[in-house]
Amino acid sequence: MVRIAAVGDLHIKGEPPADLVAAITDLDETADLLVVAGDITNGGRLIEAEAAAELLALSRLPILAVMGNHDRRCLRRKAFYSILARAGVDMLDGEIRVMSFGSETVGFAGIGGSGGGFWPDAGPDAVHSRALQRLRVKARLEATRLDQALQSLESHEVDHTVVITHFAPTINTLGVEPEAKYWMLGNIELGRTIDRFPVDLVLHGHAHLGNPIGRTPNGVLVRNVAQSVTGGVVVHELDRESAATATWPAFERSA
Ligand SMILES: [Fe+2]
Ligand SMILES: [Fe+2]
Repeated sequence: MVRIAAVGDLHIKGEPPADLVAAITDLDETADLLVVAGDITNGGRLIEAEAAAELLALSRLPILAVMGNHDRRCLRRKAFYSILARAGVDMLDGEIRVMSFGSETVGFAGIGGSGGGFWPDAGPDAVHSRALQRLRVKARLEATRLDQALQSLESHEVDHTVVITHFAPTINTLGVEPEAKYWMLGNIELGRTIDRFPVDLVLHGHAHLGNPIGRTPNGVLVRNVAQSVTGGVVVHELDRESAATATWPAFERSA
């Protein structure tokens, strides 16, 4: 069994809150790897990256992460990456990693993703606006890069495949987010891409008012690990049998 600790949307501005420090410190006692699903910092500032790096290093785990929209505000991307890299954070932007934990091998594909909407079910009304058209193009581009990453994983022998994104690949984990905001929260192209591959688990963040567990249209397990949704860090146990048989309670939208 492989134990993946996951959290998203830390939004670090300065000194991290004590409960977050407690949740991350010594995570190596309960998990094999830490995944951070974007929005590590609040404004993409280097000083925030320094604080986040210091916090994440407390986990004493290998760390895989993707950029969130808040991290993308950073104007000095290379410096941002290298501050986090010094703390052991491996930032994925359309790349894959193949990692072994004991006798099990896990393939990871990570990408930030984008908004764009969930047509035809929940596409934005104003699809003709130029900004939305641009977002659709970006959504397709990011999905294509994820597709390429997942294709390149196919040449590796892996026991499990995990996708890490910041934006949501399904409306299923958007919880009580207002429907009018869906187009900003994720896009269906990511979900469709994931559904073409034997993915066991998707970890995303960004939907702060979402719900913790859902599925892609074809039934791949999706966990929204935004800190505000889970209340901290979740540890997901990846094993072949539970991935195939797990059932999760359906989330009901409250009126
Ligand atoms: Fe966020
Ligand atoms: Fe975000």
